[in-house]
Formats: sequence, structure tokens, C-alpha cells
Amino acid sequence: MLVLGLETSCDETGAAVVHADGTVLSDVVQSQVKVHAPYGGVVPELASRDHLKNVRPVVLEALTRAKVSLADVAGIAVTCRPGLTGALLVGVQAARGLAWSRDLPLVGVDHLVGHLLSVFLRFPDVAGPPAPAYPFVALLASGGHTALYRVDGPELSRIRELGATRDDAAGEAFDKVAKLIGLGYPGGPVIDRLAKEGNPEAIDLIWPMRRKGSLEFSFSGLKTDVMRWVEKNGLPGDDQTLRDLCAAFQRRVVDTLVGKAVDAATREGVTSLVLAGGVAANRELRERAKARCEAHGLTLVVPPFRACTDNAAMIGYAGSHRLAAGENDAGALETSPNTALARVTRKGRGLRN
Ligand code: KG4
Ligand code: ZN
Repeated sequence: MLVLGLETSCDETGAAVVHADGTVLSDVVQSQVKVHAPYGGVVPELASRDHLKNVRPVVLEALTRAKVSLADVAGIAVTCRPGLTGALLVGVQAARGLAWSRDLPLVGVDHLVGHLLSVFLRFPDVAGPPAPAYPFVALLASGGHTALYRVDGPELSRIRELGATRDDAAGEAFDKVAKLIGLGYPGGPVIDRLAKEGNPEAIDLIWPMRRKGSLEFSFSGLKTDVMRWVEKNGLPGDDQTLRDLCAAFQRRVVDTLVGKAVDAATREGVTSLVLAGGVAANRELRERAKARCEAHGLTLVVPPFRACTDNAAMIGYAGSHRLAAGENDAGALETSPNTALARVTRKGRGLRN
């Protein structure tokens, strides 16, 4: 069964053709990084307009690269939540039009479920890790979300949040700190590169949410601490201090993510820990997670980089389960800025009962 996936929730226009077994026939991603870079973050209205311009050519390219036509696909899956409303609407309306014109079933997919299942994608040109068996614990760390989940199956009802960030997402912290110290957008890859040559012990920053036993995160205090350091010491130039600051910041983010992810996997009694989302591309995160997992008898599964960042293949794959079950959202498909996954962590202070 082939599925056409569409993704327009944030700053990537994506279309992909995937098989229900996870094989990716094509995966086209048109990034908007250049559109938003001058502003140091995603500008929603510019995102919608760029999706509108690119959605048609991106879909056509995905079909062409997969050497199929709409007549060959069994259904369409589109990200309908969470995300920027204007951006989501572009993908949803495009998918609606395509489904209606070909009388194809159409299902809405929660973007976070897509990320959590991205580990099952198989790219013909990239050797990926063996897929984990259910249940597993996944750390999803991206620009918009940071949370730990227990995943018992591919359906929404079988995915449970164990803890999430109370404020900034991990990728958002990378982006904000990079902007603060003049490194541009997106911040993750450049901090990753500079941190490699820095000493994480050279600068003393706070450790975020160290409370033992808590699976919640908070990165805004760390970001403020970097801001305070800059106020006191001035902006570091292109020197060793800049590398040390990046290393100190990254070590705190990485060790917090890894520590809580390993705690969650151990507590849930699963054998595999999965990393997903753009921050999973971070080299120190991958290295330290691998070492901690080995020490705790856990198997670490990290999807290839292109599966970690936003793409439509993960949306197509996540939607294939709903399509295979005969589901069809057709006329009832709506967008939402929020995930459909139940949240246990409240934004701001205090636990949700
Ligand atoms: O998953 P993604 O492509 O989009 C969202 O759904 O947000 O993640 C993008 C985020 C950005 O915040 C970016 O700075 C971060 O992932 N990122 C990284 C690295 N590569 C991308 N963060 C740390 N280290 C990296 N190597
Ligand atoms: Zn994402």
C-alpha cells in the first residue's frame, strides 16, 4: 500500500511517497530556512506564503521521484496538528483537493506521532538502524517540542507522554542562545560545531531541572543564565571563549535530555530508547546517549538525520496505519495548534493532575 504524505506545519514544505512497511520511495523537503533567517526565527505569515508557493511543485516532485501517479496511491496523509495554523491550512487544503479529485481517503496526522514513528522509515540509500520493538521510550526534541513518550504501538491511543518541557523546547533554546551570541539561525548545527572545540567546564552555567525523579524539562532558565553571563562578560568574539560558552550550554542541555530519557526508559522497563526530532542530530547528544544506554543495558535507536528533521515521509508512514484500518477524515479534517496527545506537563509551573 502506497501513501502520499504532506507536511507543512512549520518551516518545511514536504511531500513523500511511502510504503506502509516504512519504505520511502521519495521524500522531498523544501526548507524555508533562508526565508526566516534574517528574522532569527520563523515568521508565521511568511511561512504560509512560502508553503502556498511550494506545495504544488513539491507534491509533483515527490510523485515524479517515486515514479508513481496519484492513481497508484491508496490514500493521503497530511499533518493537521500541532503547528502554525496558516501553515497547516495550506497542506490540509492541498491534501483535501487532491483526495477529492481522485476520490482517495484522507487522514490527518499529528506531527508529533510522525516524529515518534520516524524510526520505522527505511530509505533505500541510507543504512538505518534496526527498528525497535514496541514498547519503547522516545525522546522527541525539536525546535517546537521536547518531551518523553512511552510508545506501545503506532496509534495515538497507545502513545503516552511521560514528561515534557514547561517552557522552551530544547531546539528553541539552541536557537535563542545562538541568536543571543550572534551565531544566526538555526542555532543547533552551529553550536554543535563550535562546542566540539570548547571546554564545557570552563564556564559555570546553571543545570536545568535537576530534581531527581522528575521527567519534566525547563530550558528558559539556562537561556537566561547565558544572557546574564553575556551581560557580565560581554559578547565573546570568535575565540576560545565562544567555543567554551557553546560547550558549556550544550553539555547542560544534552546531559539533562540524556539523563531523563534514560531514567524514563529504565522506569518504564523497556529495552529501547529512541531519539527523534531535529535536536537528535546533535553529535554530543548521540554520543552521550549511546554511552549512557550501554551502561544501563538499553539499545539506543537513532533514525538517520533526514528522518529526524521535519519531513513528509514520517507523516505518510504514521497515516498508513489509519488508512489501513479503513479510516477517512475527508470532510471532517480540522487543524489545531495543539497536539492530540494528552499532556501531563503543564506549561509554566505546577503538575497537571
Ligand atoms: O524537528 P525540526 O527540524 O523542526 C521542528 O519540528 O522544530 O527541528 C529543528 C530544531 C531547530 O531548533 C534546530 O536548531 C535544531 O533542531 N537542531 C539541532 C541540531 N540540528 C538541528 N540542535 C542541536 N544540534 C544539532 N546538530
Ligand atoms: Zn517537527
